[in-house]
Amino acid sequence: MFSWQTTPRPIVALAPMAGVTDASYRQLIKRIAPEVIVYTEFLSTDAIHYGAKKTMELLNFDPTLERPFIVQVFGKDPEHFLSAAKVIEQLGADGIDINMGCPAAKVVSSCHGSALIRNPKLAAELVHATVKAVKIPVSVKTRLGWECIDTLIPFCKGLVEAGAQALAIHGRRYHDKFSGAANWDPIYELKREVSVPVIGNGDIMSAADAVAKIGNLDGVMVGRGTFGNPWVMGEIVEALRNDHRPMTNDQREIDQRSISTPTTFEEKIPWILEHCELAVRTKGEKRGMLEMRRHLASYVKGVDGAKEMRAKLVLAERIDDVKAVICR
Ligand SMILES: Cc1cc2nc3c(=O)[nH]c(=O)nc-3n(C[C@H](O)[C@H](O)[C@H](O)COP(=O)(O)O)c2cc1C
Repeated sequence: MFSWQTTPRPIVALAPMAGVTDASYRQLIKRIAPEVIVYTEFLSTDAIHYGAKKTMELLNFDPTLERPFIVQVFGKDPEHFLSAAKVIEQLGADGIDINMGCPAAKVVSSCHGSALIRNPKLAAELVHATVKAVKIPVSVKTRLGWECIDTLIPFCKGLVEAGAQALAIHGRRYHDKFSGAANWDPIYELKREVSVPVIGNGDIMSAADAVAKIGNLDGVMVGRGTFGNPWVMGEIVEALRNDHRPMTNDQREIDQRSISTPTTFEEKIPWILEHCELAVRTKGEKRGMLEMRRHLASYVKGVDGAKEMRAKLVLAERIDDVKAVICR
């Protein structure tokens, strides 16, 4: 059974991202860097409670590829957390993460996501209800605070007391949304105050960023830095591993087997096509290709003729259409 306490350090996690971290993206990342812990995008506990078809489809995963598999949920009704947690456990997930960080107006106005930072009692109650319902570990992803960062430690201590077994902290307040640079100092301070693993998140774009930022933390979580560059996850795993401890001979063998980052656009092409194939396999051709368009735009960023390629790629309906554009 997966455990946050014993999972190998340093932890490298793919940040949950709505509309991005679907099964195809998670599987692509796992092929590049099998050590990465993957999360679903945030899913509504209300929708899971009522068995809403669209949300239930987003719970599909490949158990042979996507382990450990963490399902991220949001909501505010403890009863719905309890029933959703049972469904998620039965589907074979390795952990449940509760979103207490989303700053989107629609989410916050319903008292979901980062609004829970202002309601620590309910936040702890949701953790407690989830922990009570399942045997798999429950974790929380949150931000530094609402407006003030002094609440971070007491808020997180309350979550840990309620049973949270790991914390992932995005180094911004609700008020920052996505602006300014992420501040990791309060996250290092939090780590000194709690007994559970703490994962830092915010603005990691490269392996060098991960090495510079990990500090005393158990791991790092990376989101936007993977856009158009999923290979960065392999680089981060390798860099943190080398930074943290000397390699044994066995380890060296594993390192040599790990996938290296393509250096030219031509070398990226097989991966881009594989991503398309995963998208079509998991969502069908129509939806899979539609949802691939944002990734395709990221993959060609900075390439000669990117503008013309993007204009054609946003119309791609089949993998062959993509091939015709990128295999020049
Ligand atoms: C498109 C997008 C969707 C996101 N969706 C979620 C989500 O579903 N759950 C969540 O906890 N955070 C979500 N986030 C926030 C990220 O998980 C992460 O905390 C944030 O992007 C900062 O990390 P980064 O600088 O590595 O991207 C999202 C971010 C982006 C850009």
